[in-house]
Amino acid sequence: MSDKKIIAVAGATGAQGGGLVRAIQADKDGPFRARAITRNPDSDAAKALAAIGAEVVQGDLSDQASIDRAFEGVHGAYCVTFFWAHMSPEREMEEARTLAVAAQRGGVQHVVWSTLEDTRKWVPLESDQMPTLLKRYKVPHFDVKGEADKFFVTLPTTYLLTSFYWDNLVSFGMNPKPDGQGGYTFTLPMDEAKLPGIAAEDIGKCAYGVFKEGASAIGKHIGISGEHVSGAEMAAILSDVLGISVRHHAASPEEFRNYGFPGADDLGNMFQFKRDFEAAFRGARDVETARKLNPELLNFRQFVDLHKAEIPLT
Ligand SMILES: NC(=O)c1ccc[n+]([C@@H]2O[C@H](COP(=O)([O-])OP(=O)(O)OC[C@H]3O[C@@H](n4cnc5c(N)ncnc54)[C@H](OP(=O)(O)O)[C@@H]3O)[C@@H](O)[C@H]2O)c1
Repeated sequence: MSDKKIIAVAGATGAQGGGLVRAIQADKDGPFRARAITRNPDSDAAKALAAIGAEVVQGDLSDQASIDRAFEGVHGAYCVTFFWAHMSPEREMEEARTLAVAAQRGGVQHVVWSTLEDTRKWVPLESDQMPTLLKRYKVPHFDVKGEADKFFVTLPTTYLLTSFYWDNLVSFGMNPKPDGQGGYTFTLPMDEAKLPGIAAEDIGKCAYGVFKEGASAIGKHIGISGEHVSGAEMAAILSDVLGISVRHHAASPEEFRNYGFPGADDLGNMFQFKRDFEAAFRGARDVETARKLNPELLNFRQFVDLHKAEIPLT
């Protein structure tokens, strides 16, 4: 039997959790083994985690008993919730509560909670700076995570403030689009403000660094980013690496909110928050801190270079 301590990982087949499972298992002499939580251990993604030596267990955040079981006997737990799977802040709140309750019941010694700002601390609901959404949110997928911090305060928690995934250019429709004149447009509704971004895989690698840091990280808010880059800088790097001409389109948040795809209003408010409160938002996310946790941290150019074949150009 291995004497490695177990880290239970929510969202193990996804972006953040997957990065963490791979980081844990890649460190053969490291102190931990990953317990990957998935709703479907028979999926190809789950089997790929088993193939690198992770223990794969069934768990569903809508089933408290399954998460209680998954957190039994573990040293650490990576807690992430899944707003975009259902787009319900109330459901995401319940997911966070389920994870915190399981961590408490399991006596988990180190919880890493993947969180974001409750933007209502900067933009009160009554403010008309940006529209109120779903009656009680400004940026639903941010606000609910920040509000859910309350479930973790009595636990040995590190609050990991994540950043915009550059992977959104690969799989979330934020790729450069043809402008009909032989060039491309990259839309980022933040004017000249710089956006802290990160390769999603690096979030998991940083989380691994937090677990290795151990007790001294408990109680801390740690914000991570691979680089802070403006829309114009991102367009210039995309042009250079992809060998095409990309122009930054600084859409207004209002324009972005009206694009009509599900969640456009939430994301329009999010980008406005990051623009209007640039100093606070960037100040909470430090590249050097992230690099200390994860020496392999990528900057934007390195990310684009690594993923250039996967970035759609349609
Ligand atoms: N996109 C961004 O730029 C960005 C930036 C910062 C933070 N975030 C936040 O990241 C969170 C999502 O994390 P992610 O991107 O790592 O997720 P992801 O890649 O979408 O994958 C999440 C995984 O979680 C599992 N899952 C979904 N619903 C579940 C449930 N009810 N119970 C158990 N497992 C469930 C799924 O695995 P199985 O099918 O195997 O169960 C899925 O593979 C969101 O809340 C989002 O707001 C996103």
